[in-house]
Amino acid sequence: MTEIDRTCAQKLLAMAAEARGRAYAPYSGFHVGAAILFENGETICGCNVENASYGLSMCAERGAMIAAVVKGLKKPVAVAVSGEGGTFCPPCGACRQFLAEFNPDMQVILEGSGDIKLYTLKDLLPFSFSLEGLSGGEKEQ
Ligand code: THU
Repeated sequence: MTEIDRTCAQKLLAMAAEARGRAYAPYSGFHVGAAILFENGETICGCNVENASYGLSMCAERGAMIAAVVKGLKKPVAVAVSGEGGTFCPPCGACRQFLAEFNPDMQVILEGSGDIKLYTLKDLLPFSFSLEGLSGGEKEQ
């Protein structure tokens, strides 16, 4: 996959920041937005949604990916994450695993202290568990 260019990265980060404004995070006070770009050019956003039963809280990245699957989008090429207070917000371990299911080669775009960092998801989650590890598993399209 060709690397996302800077303009595209900035556009995705701006969409993630806009989604962050809609986060529901009354418990942590930490608002997060994510924007996932798909192979067909569509972008789906998500924000974190917390719950009084803390463990039920949902991260922005997983929220976006779930919304995308509902729309039939299963080929993500890049995710931008925007965290609170201009600090880098790398996806948590659960989100890395969740996104790797769909494309471990996708790019992860992060912004903090006025700087943009680009990663490949599989570099952030090496030797991940996948369907190939499940005997008899068959990948749905
Ligand atoms: N959070 C995300 O939405 N994405 C991440 O990758 C890290 C953490 C949320 C979960 C929780 O609502 C808040 O940030 C504080 O952990």
